[in-house]
Amino acid sequence: MTHPTFSNLRIDSDRLLGRLMSLGQDGALEGGGVCRLALSDKDKLGRDRVVDWMKELGLRVTIDKIGNLMGFLPGREDLSPVVLGSHIDTVATGGLYDGNLGVLAGLEVISVLKDSGYVPLRPIVVAAFTNEEGARFAPDMLGSAVDRGSLDLETALAIKDSDGFVIAEELARIGYAGEAEPGHIDPYCFFELHVEQGPVLEEEGEQIGAVTGVQGISWTEYVIEGISNHAGTTPMRLRHDAGFAAASVAVAARKVAEEIGDGQVVTVGVNELNPNLVNVIARSARLTVDMRNIDEQKLQQAEKRLAEEIAAICKAEGVRYTSRTLARFEPVMFDQNMVDLIADVAMEQGRSVRCMSSGAGHDAQMFAPVCPTAMVFVPSQGGISHNIEEYTSPEDIKAGANVLLQAALTKAEE
Ligand code: GLV
Ligand code: MN
Ligand code: MN
Ligand code: MN
Repeated sequence: MTHPTFSNLRIDSDRLLGRLMSLGQDGALEGGGVCRLALSDKDKLGRDRVVDWMKELGLRVTIDKIGNLMGFLPGREDLSPVVLGSHIDTVATGGLYDGNLGVLAGLEVISVLKDSGYVPLRPIVVAAFTNEEGARFAPDMLGSAVDRGSLDLETALAIKDSDGFVIAEELARIGYAGEAEPGHIDPYCFFELHVEQGPVLEEEGEQIGAVTGVQGISWTEYVIEGISNHAGTTPMRLRHDAGFAAASVAVAARKVAEEIGDGQVVTVGVNELNPNLVNVIARSARLTVDMRNIDEQKLQQAEKRLAEEIAAICKAEGVRYTSRTLARFEPVMFDQNMVDLIADVAMEQGRSVRCMSSGAGHDAQMFAPVCPTAMVFVPSQGGISHNIEEYTSPEDIKAGANVLLQAALTKAEE
């Protein structure tokens, strides 16, 4: 239940939206949306902006060796902090809200505390984690995974993007190879406000999602090698066509999702041919498969079925293939008391609430094994995300940020 000394505090939605729009200028795309790939020049600009805001708010800023940013507000006592975190990197065709909202709502909580003079019992930390999207470097949730120790720092620093750029060098280049040890903050609990990125809240006419968990994620890259030849002269029966095999894998992936059913989703998001020419049979293909399910057994079944399909397709076409795991996370359940707290706070504030699982991956899932963790979702218009059209209304942002504020301050008094 909300605490008498802070229950009257409310976020300033104009200030929060103003910061969202300002951050959206770093990497702004023509026609709307943002491209702020992790550790790019635009990411540096966004990070600089967030660090400036943290400093303006008087937070002690630390940057760790994987580039995670943390702004620390002391509490009345030197206890483990309540952490409010998310990310500011985007996919190449990103919106203004994914990740950014969670970080800036955290800063808004701090701004409200500064304005009111109210000092919570526990410290509060606002965190922006490196490379949540996995759009440039795999795996996704990389910074939060290193922070929580589920990914080794040295391994992470050596990861390359598809052009061969190495994380350690890119961090240094943009000035964000920090000194702090990842995991230097021992969280009391973790909250992440995020746009739903799916259609459920909007379709059901509900404003707040109390997120119960995140589905498991399996990312695999396949490289298929065939024989390049002339498109006009090579009889169909003599082809070893990497492009045909890759297309067949995409069809098989859809078939596997339908076969498993029950919320199994499968996406072939990358499909690159080499050469990529109108009259040449492709010698090689690189494709990625993203599979997700809330049920680990079903996810494993989907992985096994797809592996069988790929082996059969490549054998029939007479091409070779290699596979590489880019990311693998088991489904995560959030702490029931934290989920209940979010639902209770939202209802006290007169909001309609739905308990729901997350289809997207989030930094919060890295915290769930180590401390009480939960997420607040707000509706995504048309269920659209990872798209420049991504939009959440100011009213919904205000509602979600007020739930975050009161839930976080409740925990900060424990
Ligand atoms: C990360 O944003 C993911 O869910 O793919
Ligand atoms: Mn996100
Ligand atoms: Mn995202
Ligand atoms: Mn995500």
